[in-house]
Amino acid sequence: MNNDTMRAVGVIPSKREVALFQHHQPTIRRPTEARIRTIEVGICGTDREICTFAYGTPPNDSDYLVLGHEALGEIIEVGPGVSRFRPGDLVVPTVRRPCPHESCPSCRDARQDFCFTGDFTERGIKMVHGYMTEFFVEDEVHLNLVPKELRDVAVLVEPLTVAEKALAQVWQVQRRLNWDVDPNHPEGMGTGKTAVVLGAGPVGILGAMTLLVNGFKTFVYSRSAEPNPKAALVNSIGAKYISSETTSPSEFAKIVGNIDLVYEAVGQAKISFDVLKVLGLNGVFVFTGIPPVKPAIPIEADTLMRQMVLMNQAIIGTVNADRAAFEAAIRDLATFKKRWPQALQSVITGRFPLESYRELLLGKATGIKNVISLG
Ligand code: BGC
Repeated sequence: MNNDTMRAVGVIPSKREVALFQHHQPTIRRPTEARIRTIEVGICGTDREICTFAYGTPPNDSDYLVLGHEALGEIIEVGPGVSRFRPGDLVVPTVRRPCPHESCPSCRDARQDFCFTGDFTERGIKMVHGYMTEFFVEDEVHLNLVPKELRDVAVLVEPLTVAEKALAQVWQVQRRLNWDVDPNHPEGMGTGKTAVVLGAGPVGILGAMTLLVNGFKTFVYSRSAEPNPKAALVNSIGAKYISSETTSPSEFAKIVGNIDLVYEAVGQAKISFDVLKVLGLNGVFVFTGIPPVKPAIPIEADTLMRQMVLMNQAIIGTVNADRAAFEAAIRDLATFKKRWPQALQSVITGRFPLESYRELLLGKATGIKNVISLG
């Protein structure tokens, strides 16, 4: 490797190729930027989908897109205007960058996760290179400090932000009810409420942990019959795993009782709408999965609509995360590490060199969270 380039993994959509190539080394161009050495990058469903060329857009001046949006890095150089970080600090970057339009109140308020124009960009996904490479440069406003003790698990911060942003919205929506919205409730604001997580992938398992630390009685409803490693992990943290292969949605609802909250993390419409049908009175259903576009399926639309009205139900779709969600994720990760050290470690099922990209991105999805480790 010469000094100006570094290894990177990305897609070249015009050639429908996924490749390991040389990419220019980024340098600090603005005073508030920092240069970061990548330590770990998580692989997720979005990366795999970008590799099918159904999603993902390279920057305007590039025919390739460097992948990767779940990263942990170490600051190695700071611009003269950087005030919150120093070399040696561990950081997790956010994903979305604001649109340029003055008329977008969300982006102008650093809430690009709620961009109104659609002209936002996303590192490793939409028009900005990602983190699946050796170094990156980022403005300090898009970086979050990670305590050194979390180094071994901090690559999970970004997937955990999905639950953090979801829950922040759930609290807001349920202010319409007499839910206990005291943020200092000693046992968590979900105490006395029942939550269901759909799916036992990384977003689901980290979501279940979040719900548990917030006091919810938590069930995870996922396909595979027991015994299996994900079910064992879920049961070990004090949630209850139930398989949709052996328990139908209506049987599941009988076991669970009134469902106050569903956190969908499965990315499949059929099972999601089957469970929406058993959502409880005054319940909230949060969709987080992004299914690939598929042929239409029948759903009981009248029954669902009738029920949503008669039962005061709310449905929320949520994507991306703001700085507050990243900060909450970093705090909660420290709590999870104290409470379930082994279970948290076992969410990361494999660490691989950059050279294993092909198997990780194009091979059969295995394990829970697989990570590229750059050391
Ligand atoms: C990322 C989000 C992003 C979304 C849509 C997800 O995988 O975690 O940050 O907004 O994809 O591109």
